[in-house]
Amino acid sequence: MKQVVTQARREDRVIGLVPTMGALHEGHLSLVRAAQQQCSPVIVSIFVNPKQFGPAEDFEKYPRTLEADRATLEEQGVEYLFTPSPEEMYPAGFRTAVLVEGLSERLEGRLRPGHFRGVTTVVLKLLEIARPQLAFFGRKDAQQARLIRQMARDLNLDGEIVVCPIVREPDGLALSSRNAYLRGAERQAATTLYRALDAVRREVAAGERDPARLLVALRQVVDAEMAVTLDYAEIVDADTFEPVLHLRKVCYVLIAGRVGTTHLIDNALIEPTAESLKVTL
Ligand code: PAJ
Repeated sequence: MKQVVTQARREDRVIGLVPTMGALHEGHLSLVRAAQQQCSPVIVSIFVNPKQFGPAEDFEKYPRTLEADRATLEEQGVEYLFTPSPEEMYPAGFRTAVLVEGLSERLEGRLRPGHFRGVTTVVLKLLEIARPQLAFFGRKDAQQARLIRQMARDLNLDGEIVVCPIVREPDGLALSSRNAYLRGAERQAATTLYRALDAVRREVAAGERDPARLLVALRQVVDAEMAVTLDYAEIVDADTFEPVLHLRKVCYVLIAGRVGTTHLIDNALIEPTAESLKVTL
């Protein structure tokens, strides 16, 4: 991979990297297409990163569909698929970690201790290996994208971090490799996260501006669905990820919950405009 990258850089080509854990869906492919608009070659990495899974999490059963993923990427015209083994990424004696302090311990990081340390560690390695001018991430994982931007800034990384919109099913459910775990009634219940965010959007459209009251509207939707356990719901500043008391700056409505044993996350973006507030799901 490093040889390919060295050669591409010598030829002044613009390298695009799309890091993934595979089980590719339209969310991933939207990142690939965004990369293809601006970069050639595009490198997609598929690596189910053991360091970002907790001991009680789903590392073993995480969906692995490498042959189908390979065919999809080939059909999409992706030049390079990088699929390192855990032993290649973390050989015996590996001892280094990257941690974005503070931001890593809140919200998703509090729910999943060590998760973001694993994410930033592997993403830095992937960025060093692929040395992309542009690396593409989804807003679906808003806190992850924010942490990666922070790491890139703090460590003087050269490439630009590009964050792309959330791709959803027709009923609003954000695409996720973990949706493969949902069975029958669970699949229906999983739309609750989207419907809760949509309730916030409707309240904002009706003139509500108080984050606390918006969260009440959100919780009402979740409470009405017995099959969903809410892990957190917060309205945070898009920069600091600290809870906000008003909607004067760009914010995220972040929501995480469990359907059965499946962990799901989603978010909405709230942006002040000249005359009103724009809510993007
Ligand atoms: P993974 O969950 O496979 O996601 C890979 C990328 O696809 C992430 O940037 C994620 O935000 C984006 N993505 C997932 N679902 C999306 C959707 N519905 N719409 C738009 N983008 C979506 O996130 C990871 O892998 C890992 O943590 C990784 C960054 C690869 C590090 O191991």
